[in-house]
Amino acid sequence: MFETKPKDNSKLFLKLLLRKSFLGLGLVEKGVALDLFSGAGAIAGRLYRDFRELHLVEKDEKKLARLDLEFSQCPNARIWNMDNLEFIKKNLGTLPGLSLVDFDAYGSPNKQIQAFFASRAVKNPLLIFATDGFFISRLRGRTFSPELYLAGQDRENATGYDPVLSRNFELLIRSFWDELSKRHNFRISLFKILWKKGGQVAYYGTVIEPK
Ligand SMILES: C[S@@+](CC[C@H](N)C(=O)[O-])C[C@H]1O[C@@H](n2cnc3c(N)ncnc32)[C@H](O)[C@@H]1O
Repeated sequence: MFETKPKDNSKLFLKLLLRKSFLGLGLVEKGVALDLFSGAGAIAGRLYRDFRELHLVEKDEKKLARLDLEFSQCPNARIWNMDNLEFIKKNLGTLPGLSLVDFDAYGSPNKQIQAFFASRAVKNPLLIFATDGFFISRLRGRTFSPELYLAGQDRENATGYDPVLSRNFELLIRSFWDELSKRHNFRISLFKILWKKGGQVAYYGTVIEPK
């Protein structure tokens, strides 16, 4: 009756572990960091405070009070309460010196990743983190859309459920990045995926550089 369910922090732990291991390599400057799915700032508050500038984008009003509180003593942080696709379209160009982008989505962040590279050329080494839970969204009823894993425009009639592709989630993610790199002329110098237990959510990080 008084049983309490322990909070499952394994997800946050894995996300932090991945990011810390990349940040520890010192491969990018701590210039401008952009967190496009800020939530309440659990990741950014622990790992991105020492960047010269930190931009936090979150569309959910309910998360803002906690985000404001988390960064109230952090003068280099700016909070943007808006949709991240709109941010990418309107504000990405105003952020020179970008060295880290975080796409910690629910579901797949690929629309935002596609929009990011369509709006910005890779001119310096960039550290990118992402969470891709598309597999779970599909199990919860969303149809498979290959368009989400293409770097460019979808071909006509190429959408719909595809049982073969959906069984190859890792391959999908890796080939998405391979294709992006060719299309947008960058090199992937490091790529690492950690899996949530059960293999349904991918947490990955990558370092990309101009060719
Ligand atoms: C997995 S949570 C992020 C957790 C966060 N990284 C942290 O460390 O606390 C995903 C967040 O992205 C936000 N989000 C989802 N779609 C968005 C969009 N299109 N634009 C801006 N924020 C979005 C959600 O409201 C949610 O807070």
